[in-house]
Amino acid sequence: MGLLTGKTAIVTGAARGIGKAIALKFASEGANIAFTDLVIDENGQNTEKEIAALGVKVKGYASNAANFEDTEKVVNQIKEDFGSIDILVNNAGITKDGLMMRMSEAQWDAVIAVNLKSAFNFIHACTPIMMRQKSGSIINMASVVGVHGNAGQCNYSASKAGMIGLAKSIAQELGSRGIRANAIAPGFIITDMTAKLSDEVKTEWAKKIPLRRGGTPEDVADVATFLASDMSSYISGQVIQVDGGMNM
Ligand code: NAI
Repeated sequence: MGLLTGKTAIVTGAARGIGKAIALKFASEGANIAFTDLVIDENGQNTEKEIAALGVKVKGYASNAANFEDTEKVVNQIKEDFGSIDILVNNAGITKDGLMMRMSEAQWDAVIAVNLKSAFNFIHACTPIMMRQKSGSIINMASVVGVHGNAGQCNYSASKAGMIGLAKSIAQELGSRGIRANAIAPGFIITDMTAKLSDEVKTEWAKKIPLRRGGTPEDVADVATFLASDMSSYISGQVIQVDGGMNM
């Protein structure tokens, strides 16, 4: 028996990166996986194949997490296809960095919509199902910059701080219905998102990390698995930083 045997998990934005690592780790612990991404292209199809090889049920759904109606539809479809929804990981996210002085309204709106409104959309659609089941674990992917801020990322930091406030509020509203909600705040994790950064920025980051390395998507997936499973059955409303000790 795996830690998540018999459970169904939704992971948003999981065709690649941290979401994919979480979906794979959950599957290796026995969970059935419904994952979403903007499109299910070659990346998404590979993710589906790798998860299926672990012997669980899996399906990738093309859906824009920032869109309320799209999300309602996809969650209803997942409920029909899988029967239950036990775990929700709000992972889809983007960056559109810039200093406040130079940030456009479009940069602000896009990041808030994809990183924060998406989580509202999925929580809104999934919690009635979890309430009927009287159990559920919700994990919001935040970031250390949502706790500490970051010059040049006011839109992203605000969206990630919002993910923390959202998780804590849901933990308070729905704890009595058996639903837990927590946030993970990764530091510098090596994925396509951070590949865009210059070597200079990466070296500066590494200097600030006591463990002297960037994190892997698997480092984050291990914590997500703990929060999704009954191993954390008395933990709700928390933020766990996965950052090699960068911010204490
Ligand atoms: P990534 O860019 O490699 O993957 C993000 C995935 O989300 C992509 O597959 C993308 O297509 C999907 N996506 C984007 N917009 C979407 C939408 N509207 N609807 C559905 N899917 C959408 O990024 P990575 O690094 O794997 O990040 C995953 C999460 O972790 C994000 O929320 C990110 O903000 C967060 N994070 C990442 C850190 C890092 O250092 N890589 C650090 C802290 C947080």
